[in-house]
Amino acid sequence: MDNDNKPIIIGCDHGGYLLKEKIRQYLIERGIDINDVGTYSEDSVDYADFGIKASKMVATGEYERGILLCGTGLGMSMVANKFPHVRAALCNDLFSAIMSRRHNNSNILVMGGRVIGEELARQIVKAWLETPFDGGRHQLRINKFDRIEEMM
Ligand code: RB5
Repeated sequence: MDNDNKPIIIGCDHGGYLLKEKIRQYLIERGIDINDVGTYSEDSVDYADFGIKASKMVATGEYERGILLCGTGLGMSMVANKFPHVRAALCNDLFSAIMSRRHNNSNILVMGGRVIGEELARQIVKAWLETPFDGGRHQLRINKFDRIEEMM
């Protein structure tokens, strides 16, 4: 498949911590190298701090892909999508995860640790890792907003 075994940067806040630990385990089982920027416990933190750390490394190209988790996934996706070249997709269902790869070439997967359970999250991550980008007209559509910050 596409690039399903490349190293991945992962991050979370306290709301995503428990699910992040499960996903970290799943990625290890798949033999994927992980850079876990934290947080490392359920103690309350600010999601922006961890979203920024991880998204920056995708924006600079240091990592091709990342996974972020907070309570809902909303805060993390808002933070991540501030970064150039980041296409963060909040996917708390399988169909969105697949389509975020096929049509949007998402490079950060975001999930809500208080929204979905471990089994669904594993299936979402699996599908997201294994689904390639369709390209073609979808690339042309991405080109229309990829450098939008330069137009402002
Ligand atoms: C933390 O309580 C919660 O606000 C956070 O995890 C996330 O859901 C924010 O969008």
